[in-house]
Amino acid sequence: MIIAVDGPTASGKGTIAKQLAAHFGVPHLDTGLLYRAVGQQVALGGGDPDREADALSACAFPDALLADPILRSEEVGGLASRVSVHPAVRAALFERQRAFAEQPGGAVLDGRDIGTVIAPDADVKLFITASVQERARRRWLEMTSAHIGREDEIPLAEIEKDIVRRDARDINRADAPLKAAPDAMVIDTTRFGKEEAFETVLEAVEEKL
Ligand code: C5P
Repeated sequence: MIIAVDGPTASGKGTIAKQLAAHFGVPHLDTGLLYRAVGQQVALGGGDPDREADALSACAFPDALLADPILRSEEVGGLASRVSVHPAVRAALFERQRAFAEQPGGAVLDGRDIGTVIAPDADVKLFITASVQERARRRWLEMTSAHIGREDEIPLAEIEKDIVRRDARDINRADAPLKAAPDAMVIDTTRFGKEEAFETVLEAVEEKL
């Protein structure tokens, strides 16, 4: 069973994917982390995104690298969204994601192009979304409680602007843009708390299976 979870930043897709994986007892891959690792390496090395993606996909991303909390920062999210427009970066990361999706017993993957490119044959496709204002509010709360660097001091309006910029880059890129697969179930979590969002998703998934 493959479950594909796509959606824009701070839509709740990561939490929902994790909860679904735990519920069904299957492994979960947050594919954004792969792009974040490339973005981070490119920034550190002052390097070329295509070369970094090849090097990183060849070393298969040790778990220690993907577990680095710095990868979760807004800054690295922005770097990830910039490197992810390069087709060679996407191609270098394809096999690892595909292999993860195909493992026996199933998997849950979340990202931007899981239902459209990585696992177009997924049994369940979800597109999780929420209003820009609500996503900015959630990101702000997350930052304030996590106290990551000085990010807790970023005003809400700045976060909102950043989300709009990141959405535009992800939606408008030529290769694997952010969009719902035609057969995806679109779930808007704007008015839901975390529990309600998961209940709604689980109901939709169980109906589909
Ligand atoms: O999901 P997350 O915010 O961690 O993703 C960071 C960036 O990586 C996204 O803004 C997007 O540009 C890119 N990404 C992507 N395809 C994916 C996952 C993430 O292009 N499957």
